[in-house]
Amino acid sequence: MLEDTYLKNAMIPERYQEEIELIPSERDEQTFFELNNIRNNIKDFVDSGKNLLICSNGVGNGKTTWSVKLLKAYIKSVGKVGFTNSTPGLFINVNSFLNEKKLAITDPTIAEKIRQTEKNILSAKLVVFDDIADKSLSEYDINMMYYWLDYRTANLKSCIFTTNQLPEQLKKSLNAKVYSRVVNYSIVKYITGRDHRGESGC
Ligand SMILES: Nc1ncnc2c1ncn2[C@@H]1O[C@H](COP(=O)(O)OP(=O)(O)OP(=O)(O)O)[C@@H](O)[C@H]1O
Ligand SMILES: [Mg+2]
Repeated sequence: MLEDTYLKNAMIPERYQEEIELIPSERDEQTFFELNNIRNNIKDFVDSGKNLLICSNGVGNGKTTWSVKLLKAYIKSVGKVGFTNSTPGLFINVNSFLNEKKLAITDPTIAEKIRQTEKNILSAKLVVFDDIADKSLSEYDINMMYYWLDYRTANLKSCIFTTNQLPEQLKKSLNAKVYSRVVNYSIVKYITGRDHRGESGC
């Protein structure tokens, strides 16, 4: 089935492949409700090139899980559509991918996979950029992000960003051009809940 192929090509990390139930804290109820509305209308969201930034100063409170729920919902919505030359949706942990990309310079066994993924970062209708700015980014890293995000936003290709920084803090860790594309082009949702990681065996 096409949908299974798209899910496989989306590179969703194993832990997030199964459905994870998220329970909002009282303060997050409205945000979870709004994220669920976006999920219910994800095809329109992506088709109109909208972007979403899910942020929180806290850890383990559902940012990555929400981004994957939205990505899966989008893939399901286009599960019967044939995409040529691309995969509809892609999950990228920014830090890991940039590290792998550096390794590929000296390791030809991963170079082809990295090259294909980079092509998909530009062409996929929806890309999740997980954990943007989770460490101090080098100039090279910022330049890569600018290249991807400038292309994607200019061509109305949808992005979902997650981060442990609030927009004000992102201003310091991203340069002005990347910050402007990430924050000013996105619907911003804040999650405030506590760390749930490790509960119920997850
Ligand atoms: N609101 C929640 N209700 C129930 N379980 C949750 C909730 N939030 C997170 N979890 C659990 O914690 C795990 C980690 O969540 P997730 O990876 O989405 O957190 P995150 O906000 O992306 O964290 P980080 O900031 O460290 O990247 C999930 O697999 C899930 O089991
Ligand atoms: Mg996360």
